Amino acid sequence: MDTAFAPAYAGKLPDVGTTIFTVMSALAAEAGAINLSQGFPDFPPPAGLLDRVVHHLRAGHNQYAPMAGLPALREAIARKTLDLYGHVADPDDEVTVTSGATEALYCAIESLVGPGDEALCLDPAYDSYDPAIRLAGARPVHVPLAAPGFGIDWGRLRAAITKRTRLLILNTPHNPTGAVLSADDMANLAQLVAGTGIALIGDEVYEHMVYDGRRHESLLRYPALAARSLVVSSFGKTYHATGWKIGYCVGPRELMAGFRRVHQFVQFCVATPLQWALADFLQSDPAHHRELPAFYAARRDHFCARLEGSRFRVTPSAGTYFQLADYSAITDEDDVAFARRLTTQYKVAAIPVSVFCAAGPPRHLLRFCFAKELATLDRAADILCAI
Ligand SMILES: Cc1ncc(COP(=O)(O)O)c(C=O)c1O
Repeated sequence: MDTAFAPAYAGKLPDVGTTIFTVMSALAAEAGAINLSQGFPDFPPPAGLLDRVVHHLRAGHNQYAPMAGLPALREAIARKTLDLYGHVADPDDEVTVTSGATEALYCAIESLVGPGDEALCLDPAYDSYDPAIRLAGARPVHVPLAAPGFGIDWGRLRAAITKRTRLLILNTPHNPTGAVLSADDMANLAQLVAGTGIALIGDEVYEHMVYDGRRHESLLRYPALAARSLVVSSFGKTYHATGWKIGYCVGPRELMAGFRRVHQFVQFCVATPLQWALADFLQSDPAHHRELPAFYAARRDHFCARLEGSRFRVTPSAGTYFQLADYSAITDEDDVAFARRLTTQYKVAAIPVSVFCAAGPPRHLLRFCFAKELATLDRAADILCAI
């Protein structure tokens, strides 16, 4: 190789490997294991939604969509945020359709921080935040959530704020722990950021998966917080269509203008027939997202009940479609080693929680995805109960 060229090969993020989701799903496929690792359903999207996609493909909606998203879809999103959170978003310049929540998070981070800035993440943290912060030239600052409930330690978070802090990323309902923020948390948050220049990103991709009578505490419910927030959601999660990679971002026009400056050169626009189909379906079938909590709570309850006969210890998730399980009664192995062995030897794949933590990870926790047919959960539970 030309030695003058070689240094460029180090590229960006030289310390970053392949994400755990790809690693565990590949291992699961290789081992023929039941895949409860990566977060995706094994059941299809609603039939009516698939019909709308086919319709729009056939109707010739196959060319570039507008950069910010189809107006019909942005209007439907704005109606939904008003209906659910009482938040008024102008579809023209406060809503953008993105290529999944991942793209939205990336564009939000790039638009809000740069060299010299610090961005706060709460660990365990979804794995795209830290690299996106570093790609923006900013410094990620990781603050652990308080085990075992994984609530925010407000004193510790406050202590991590410096004059360079520009961003705090919040994820509720929380992947991987299933924790959800409460109204009290939102009051603490409002106090924490009042009078500061700290912007917020709300990763709310599991907004419709909140259980046991709790309500989703969207940043959009709180005008003082919404005014400094970019809030991200995922149609992939809501409509059992993670492979479509379509989501959106809602935020005040000043922040959204910066967001779109990045989005237009990262993605420009998102698959047109999917946007038409989702615009139709949001309008015709709002019952889908309203019924999602009961739909997933039944799966969570089923999985937890089946694990009662096992040596895994679970506290039912408050939200998301993930369930944490403590396996310390089985082995002292670290979670990465045990997750690998569970996949290759026992044929059930899960995600080790430590990979979401930059420092001080919990040691004996695995994350299982219960967005599966009950028969899939039963097959996995039979195996887990025999360990
Ligand atoms: C917390 C969190 N944020 C963002 C994403 C990415 O969502 P999408 O598939 O829409 O890009 C996921 C997906 O698993 C997630 O769990």
